[in-house]
Amino acid sequence: MFGIMSRMSCFGVLLRTSVVLYLFLKGSQAQCAPCMNLKASTTATEINIQVHSNCNLSTGSTSVFTNSTMATLSGLAPGSTHLVRVLCNDIQQVNCCNNFTTKPAVIATPTVIQTTTSLFLSWTKPTGEAAGYRVEFHNGGTGKDQLTSTTSAIIESLTQGTQYTLKVIAIAQDKITEGDPRTVYVYTKPGVVGNLSVIGTTTSSVYLSWTQPKGNSSFYRVEGTGVSMNTTETSTTITGLTAGVQYSFTVTAVAGDKTTVGEGNTTTTFTSKSSFKFGV
Ligand SMILES: *[C@@H]1O[C@H](CO)[C@@H](O)[C@H](O)[C@H]1NC(C)=O
Ligand SMILES: *[C@@H]1O[C@H](CO)[C@@H](O)[C@H](O)[C@H]1NC(C)=O
Ligand SMILES: *[C@@H]1O[C@H](CO)[C@@H](O)[C@H](O)[C@H]1NC(C)=O
Ligand SMILES: *[C@@H]1O[C@H](CO)[C@@H](O)[C@H](O)[C@H]1NC(C)=O
Ligand SMILES: *[C@@H]1O[C@H](CO)[C@@H](O)[C@H](O)[C@H]1NC(C)=O
Ligand SMILES: *[C@@H]1O[C@H](CO)[C@@H](O)[C@H](O)[C@H]1NC(C)=O
Ligand SMILES: *[C@@H]1O[C@H](CO)[C@@H](O)[C@H](O)[C@H]1NC(C)=O
Repeated sequence: MFGIMSRMSCFGVLLRTSVVLYLFLKGSQAQCAPCMNLKASTTATEINIQVHSNCNLSTGSTSVFTNSTMATLSGLAPGSTHLVRVLCNDIQQVNCCNNFTTKPAVIATPTVIQTTTSLFLSWTKPTGEAAGYRVEFHNGGTGKDQLTSTTSAIIESLTQGTQYTLKVIAIAQDKITEGDPRTVYVYTKPGVVGNLSVIGTTTSSVYLSWTQPKGNSSFYRVEGTGVSMNTTETSTTITGLTAGVQYSFTVTAVAGDKTTVGEGNTTTTFTSKSSFKFGV
C-alpha cells in the first residue's frame, strides 16, 4: 500500500517537474511571439524587413541595427530558413520573431538522357540549401509535375519523338519557397518505322516502303551503301544502283529538332540482274 503511494507521489513529482518545464519552455517561447503585420521580402541572399527606428534584427550569429525604415540581413545562403528576432527600442517596443526563407538558387542546366518514352534528368545541387526539387513538364498541353528529394528524376510514359518543355525548380529548407525554374526543351526519341519492305526492284533502283512509327516524327533518313537521303514520305525510290548487287537500307525516323533519332530498321535486297545475262 505504502509502496504504491510512494510510487504515486514519485510520479506526481515527475508530473509537476514536467509541468514546470513545459511552462518554462512556453514562457521562453512567449517572449518571442510571432511578428504581426510585418512587411518583408526576400531574395536569394537577403531578408528585407520594414521596421521602425531603433531596431535590432538578429538571426543566429548575424545581427543588424537600423534606425531607418528598412533593415536588411544579407549574405545568407540561398534557400535557407532563418528565425529572425525583431527588437525595436522605440514607442512601439516591438519584440517578436518570424521565420524567413531566402529564395533557392537556380540550378545549372541539367543533363538529359532520352529514350522513346522517357527522359532521365540529373543536375547538381545549387549553391545554398535545397530540400528537394519540382520537375514540371508538358508537350503543349496540360502540364504535370513530379517532386524529388534527390538531384535526378525519371519522367516516364511520354510520347515518342515529341518535344517536351521541362522546368526544374529548387525548393527551399521550408519545403515551400521555390526558386526560379531552369527550363530545357528536349525531344524523346522517335519510334522504329514499321513494315519496312522492298516493294520492287529494277537493275538500278529499289523501291522501299514503310509505315510511320508510333508517336511523332518529322522526317526519315534513308541510308545505305553510297546512299543518304531524307524524305517526309513513307516510301522512296533509290536510284543509281548496280544490277545484281546486294544492298542494305536503313530507315530511321528523325524528330522535329532534326537531330534526335530513334532506332533504325534495316532491309536487305538484291537489285535485278541485267537482262543481257539471260541472253536476247
Ligand atoms: C542586436 O542584439 C543582439 C542580441 O539581442 C546583440 O548581440 C547584438 O550586438 C545587437 N546588434 C546590434 C547591431 O546592435
Ligand atoms: C535613432 O533615431 C532616433 C530619432 O530619429 C534618435 O533619437 C536616436 O538617437 C537614433 N539612434 C541611433 C543609435 O542612432
Ligand atoms: C520557426 O520555425 C521553427 C521550425 O520550423 C518553428 O519551430 C517555430 O515555431 C517557427 N517560429 C515562428 C515564430 O514562426
Ligand atoms: C504494318 O502495317 C499494318 C497495316 O498498314 C499496320 O496495321 C501495322 O500497325 C503496321 N505495323 C507496324 C509495326 O507499324
Ligand atoms: C523492322 O521492321 C520489321 C518489319 O515491319 C519489323 O518486324 C521489326 O520489328 C522492325 N524492327 C524493329 C527493331 O522494330
Ligand atoms: C538529312 O538531314 C540531316 C539532319 O538530320 C542533315 O544533316 C543531312 O544533311 C540531310 N541529308 C540530306 C541528303 O539532305
Ligand atoms: C509532331 O511534330 C511536328 C514537327 O516537329 C509538330 O509540328 C507537331 O506539332 C508535333 N505533334 C505533336 C502531337 O507533338
